[in-house]
Amino acid sequence: MNKNSRVFNFSAGPSMLPLEVIEEVAKELPNYQGSGQSVMEMSHRSEVFDKIIKEAEADLRTLLNIPDNYKVLFLQGGATLQFSMVALNFMGGSHKADYIVTGSWAKKAYEEAKKYGNIKLVATSEDKKFSYIPKVKKEDFRKDADYVYICYNNTIYGTHFPYIPDTGDIPLVADMSSCILSEKIDVTRFAAIFAGAQKNIGPAGVTVAIIREDMIGKAHPMTPVYLDYKIHADKESLYNTPPCFAIYVAGKCFKNLLEKGGVEAIEKKNREKAQKLYDAIDESKLFSCPVKGDDRSLMNVVMVTGKDELDKKFVKEAEDAGLVNLKGHRSIGGLRASIYNAMPDEGVEKLIDFMKRFEDENK
Ligand SMILES: Cc1ncc(COP(=O)(O)O)c(C=O)c1O
Repeated sequence: MNKNSRVFNFSAGPSMLPLEVIEEVAKELPNYQGSGQSVMEMSHRSEVFDKIIKEAEADLRTLLNIPDNYKVLFLQGGATLQFSMVALNFMGGSHKADYIVTGSWAKKAYEEAKKYGNIKLVATSEDKKFSYIPKVKKEDFRKDADYVYICYNNTIYGTHFPYIPDTGDIPLVADMSSCILSEKIDVTRFAAIFAGAQKNIGPAGVTVAIIREDMIGKAHPMTPVYLDYKIHADKESLYNTPPCFAIYVAGKCFKNLLEKGGVEAIEKKNREKAQKLYDAIDESKLFSCPVKGDDRSLMNVVMVTGKDELDKKFVKEAEDAGLVNLKGHRSIGGLRASIYNAMPDEGVEKLIDFMKRFEDENK
């Protein structure tokens, strides 16, 4: 690997960002737009930063077509803290919530929620190593549940909900950490959506929450002040010092995506990239994907050779060829190619060529 050239990084996150954004940030680093300071040094109460955060919010609203009755919050603590915030904030009615567990992240959210209320496991795909998305019907949910929880795209297992569960009047809450901004979504089908940034939003350090206004203001009385959505909504994400630099870079990524035609245009590209890679896996005699059909993720493509030693060899040789982080999650092994918005076509094509060569050499 040439140390002076950029690699194709297939990491599940933090992952690749658009090079144009990185170069622009580098240019602006010591003196942001004539302010005489870096965004890293700037007061979060300054006029300059106020413009940065307001524009980031406005651009995200445009990209996802977020209606006015939803708040957009820039928070800290990663998607993991949202597992607690969701439970603490949204179980103010019957103290019941229904969870669909389709992978490790949903399971963590479910375990966390159990500390705060009466939680029902409505469906799980753990019986088949989370390799599919269970089908659920409206009747499966408790009528008085305060919310239903799903993880829309399962980063580790490479699955994605092929449908949005019909929960009737029960608010639907979704972890979209690994698919937000990769495909068009109808925000109005969800009462709350959250996502850690370090995949399609920007650098790690900021977490985005999109919450319908009627869901806010019902937090458990013991909720720590920072974990109450209301305080962040009332203070427009400036209750305390926000992750300024991460918000600034995320804002640049939003503008970059808008310039490239927005979510619709990137979804088309993402579908093409994923299709090419899945086709290559399905045609191969060496590689196989445990996820079938409509449940396959566009962002996280999992595959195995069936032999641990060969998987390891593949990861090592791919790295030498400038294709890095192809190891599956440490909890399941195998291989995984995360192909988020910023992964160029060229990266996917290089990976497919490499897979073919590797297969020939390891028959
Ligand atoms: C779907 C999903 N949810 C939650 C998390 C946890 O995110 P964080 O590390 O920001 O807490 C991840 C991390 O990769 C994820 O992929």
